[in-house]
Amino acid sequence: MKDFATDYPIDTSIKPDVEAFFDPDTNTISYVVKDPTSNACAVIDSVMDIDYAAGRISYESADKMIKFIEDNGLKLEWLIETHVHADHLSAAPYIQGKLGGKIGIGENITVVQDTFGKVFNEGTEFQRDGSQFDKLFQEGDTYKIGNMTAFAMHTPGHTPACMTHVVGDAGFVGDTLFMPDGGSARADFPGGDAGVLYDSIQKVLSLPEETRLFMCHDYGPNGRDIQWETTVAEEKEHNIHVGGGKTKEDFVKFRTERDAQLAMPRLIIPSLQVNMRAGEMPPAEEDGKVFLKVPVNTL
Ligand SMILES: [Fe+2]
Repeated sequence: MKDFATDYPIDTSIKPDVEAFFDPDTNTISYVVKDPTSNACAVIDSVMDIDYAAGRISYESADKMIKFIEDNGLKLEWLIETHVHADHLSAAPYIQGKLGGKIGIGENITVVQDTFGKVFNEGTEFQRDGSQFDKLFQEGDTYKIGNMTAFAMHTPGHTPACMTHVVGDAGFVGDTLFMPDGGSARADFPGGDAGVLYDSIQKVLSLPEETRLFMCHDYGPNGRDIQWETTVAEEKEHNIHVGGGKTKEDFVKFRTERDAQLAMPRLIIPSLQVNMRAGEMPPAEEDGKVFLKVPVNTL
């Protein structure tokens, strides 16, 4: 494992402003991360609205983020996807079209594109080289948001392309972790692995104890209000799946048994087709109509 103190540019004296946007339809939390010393910002894990039954998409959620960025006079530099989400569609290209910025995801997007390119029987016109994205992050890559240095940690297990993005004292964990009383995300999607997820969680928990951690999802377990922010120290001590020194063996057994009980996420079929294209719909047919596929008896 890396020596975090020397291998990553951790600087917890940098405290980005973090604005959260909760989407009640998919229980996703999107973020605007702002540099306190400039007007630069990044968007993390935006949401496109979809009425799947009606085949209708809209952008109320993304428009709220756009309004926030415009009202505060911010300059959008990055649109980060922590992974290829299976439970909501990304609005990154829509926001990019209005505000600019670069769309980035982990380099293992190519693995995900290969897997789901086959599932959806995509032809050769669907590129599986990640070229739909502006930036493919590798383990340890750094980038700037204004004057802040951010870095990407490869944290696979939930999916092969999962990255945790760290900006100063703030870590955006995607689906690597949930709030302490929510535990962890499933590891049974193609390319997922419970043991690998455990190791990735340990990597996140090796960040400084005071690091603020921001979740991509919260389901308000046991009827509590929705929450999305915790710390490394809190997760280490209290996370119901990995906290308090739970072993890898315990975790893998629990996670595997739990995952076997879970139904597919409601929006997995449209989400994957759009998100593996960096948030774009599949190409239109000759008459201009756009279609999503439903693979029968495949997932
Ligand atoms: Fe996910």
